[in-house]
Amino acid sequence: MLIDTYGRVATDLRVSLTDRCNLRCTYCMPEEGLQWLAKPDLLTDDEIVRLIRMAVTRLGIEEIRFTGGEPLLRPGLVGIVERCAALEPRHRMSLTTNGIGLKRTAQALKAAGLDRVNVSLDTLRPDVFKTLTRRDRHRDVLEGLEAAREAGLTPVKVNTVLMPGLNDDEAPDLLAWAVEHDYELRFIEQMPLDAQHGWKRDGMITAGDILTSLRTRFDLIEEGTEQRGSAPAERWVVDGGPHRVGVIASVTRPFCAACDRTRLTADGQVRTCLFATEETDLRAALRAPDSTDDEIARIWKLAMWGKKAGSGLDDPSFLQPERPMSAIGG
Ligand code: GTP
Ligand code: 5AD
Ligand code: SF4
Repeated sequence: MLIDTYGRVATDLRVSLTDRCNLRCTYCMPEEGLQWLAKPDLLTDDEIVRLIRMAVTRLGIEEIRFTGGEPLLRPGLVGIVERCAALEPRHRMSLTTNGIGLKRTAQALKAAGLDRVNVSLDTLRPDVFKTLTRRDRHRDVLEGLEAAREAGLTPVKVNTVLMPGLNDDEAPDLLAWAVEHDYELRFIEQMPLDAQHGWKRDGMITAGDILTSLRTRFDLIEEGTEQRGSAPAERWVVDGGPHRVGVIASVTRPFCAACDRTRLTADGQVRTCLFATEETDLRAALRAPDSTDDEIARIWKLAMWGKKAGSGLDDPSFLQPERPMSAIGG
């Protein structure tokens, strides 16, 4: 079991498969991209499967989330999913993606054993998409979303970050569209995890702003806390149901006390939190000549003892982690 000093048990493992991405969202990375991890530093498919096998067979992990950068850019993704699906006890498997390429891969991912996907989409307007992501791929994302639903990778969730002056007027339109297409929309408060360190608390759109905007067009009733569990999203029933809308308010309504996560970066470092400033090197342990599962499990358990109570965002001494969101895996 992966337990921390506050008694929280990690049952949800987020695995970043690559730090690369084919978009350049302004709130994430600069136009020119970033210094990508070098190939030899990346965990191999075999190493990833070995760690996931340990996580589910001996560390109590019940859900695996594949993230990036953009995980569909990882050539071995379908094979990794297939090998992980064969592991016992059966765990849930999901993917967080920008949706580009999903049209091509959704069926294969489902057949390999993936349960569901979360797709990032910040706007319904192709021109705004181009400004926000610096790429003209809006149609690919919409097609990817359709393909995911048709392949049965459901519920398909859509993640939206609202940026002032760009898409902050779109919340009600996005919700109407999501209800129409049967996607579960969640708005994410922008967090200080961008590579450019451009985040400003007074410049961000808050959960409060989002709810006010949605309520101009929808009747929203908050779902009970017992249904939330450890999910980052608080949810509201839209116009009497059955659709729901979520808000992930990591900044203004943090949910760290219920956190059940542990993370693995594409270069094999354990992170106990999105905002952790320290990491634990599992890759070195994996690649040591006398490497054993016992030793790796011991190191991973020990890493969890360093998990902080919260993100530290409200501490005056808060420091943004060196690794940006795209290399952590959202
Ligand atoms: P499901 O609702 O089970 O699909 O999971 P999820 O919402 O965690 O998945 P997703 O990968 O779509 O994450 C959405 C966003 O939630 C991320 O981009 C982050 O902004 C936020 N998030 C995920 N994990 C954490 C976390 O551990 N801490 C904080 N503060 N935010 C998180
Ligand atoms: N703050 C909040 N969400 C972010 N994402 C990327 N960078 C940030 C940030 N700085 C979102 C993406 C995607 C999810 C994995 O994280 O839009 O939906
Ligand atoms: Fe790529 Fe996601 Fe960053 Fe956008 S937010 S550039 S989709 S990693």
